[in-house]
Amino acid sequence: MQRGCELTLNSVTKVYSPGTEAEVRALGNITLNVEPGEFLSVVGPSGCGKSTFLQIAAGLIGASGGQVALDGHKVNGPPEGLVYLFQQYTRSLMPWRTVLGNVEFAIEGHRMSRAERRDRCMNFLAMVGLQDFASRYPWQLSGGMQQRVAIARALAAEPRILLLDEPFSSVDALTRSDLHELVLRLWEERGFTAMLVTHDVDEAILLSDRIAVLSHRPSQIVETIPTELPRPRDRIATPELPAFLELRHYLLDQLTKRPAHA
Ligand SMILES: Nc1ncnc2c1ncn2[C@@H]1O[C@H](COP(=O)(O)OP(=O)(O)O)[C@@H](O)[C@H]1O
Ligand SMILES: [Mg+2]
Repeated sequence: MQRGCELTLNSVTKVYSPGTEAEVRALGNITLNVEPGEFLSVVGPSGCGKSTFLQIAAGLIGASGGQVALDGHKVNGPPEGLVYLFQQYTRSLMPWRTVLGNVEFAIEGHRMSRAERRDRCMNFLAMVGLQDFASRYPWQLSGGMQQRVAIARALAAEPRILLLDEPFSSVDALTRSDLHELVLRLWEERGFTAMLVTHDVDEAILLSDRIAVLSHRPSQIVETIPTELPRPRDRIATPELPAFLELRHYLLDQLTKRPAHA
């Protein structure tokens, strides 16, 4: 098993269109350390800068100030070993490629025979329960199935760190619960580092070791809370634990407070 990597954000700020009328101060000043193999969630109100934060962590966009490092190496472009799972799976899959073809894309540059690549990707498709749909096209599948393809593709790349931008928010509740279960099991098995941004407090508590709470824009980390719930987590039993309910209550209270300027 490959060890997950450590992600460090040090005094990261982001201003869009600085000095213009359209200026948006998205990130105030963010310092955060994600431990190797940790599952950390970032929760915050809509529009507070969660996607901005994650894209900076992934090296997809630059910060206005501060530093991002992966295992101590400065991030200034998408680093190797990092995989980003977007919210909109319909845009992340290639419609002209089959389901298998989409998963194979993740490891196209790797040195291995076609048969090896195919076997490996079929394995990941089996993990997400889609081995029988390998030769279909994305548009022939439901939304939840497409998101499972995106997850299989993300995992086929054997990430050392997986960044997830609200990847479960656009599927129905039952599918979301299945995907939670899937991500939990794969994370337990593979030991990668995971950072999830979400506005869903229950999802954050169920999956994470720690939760960072963001304020309204320009966002700051208000606090970081360890969930301290036993593992392995269970999607039915865990949310019934008193400690889960207490944390849920607390977080919902924090997130529904009005911003200082409102
Ligand atoms: N490329 C961009 N150019 C200008 N403003 C942006 C851009 N991307 C996001 N923003 C603004 O930055 C703020 C934070 O956006 P975002 O990071 O998407 O928040 P969240 O993911 O928490 O909903 C919002 O006000 C948004 O309109
Ligand atoms: Mg967002």
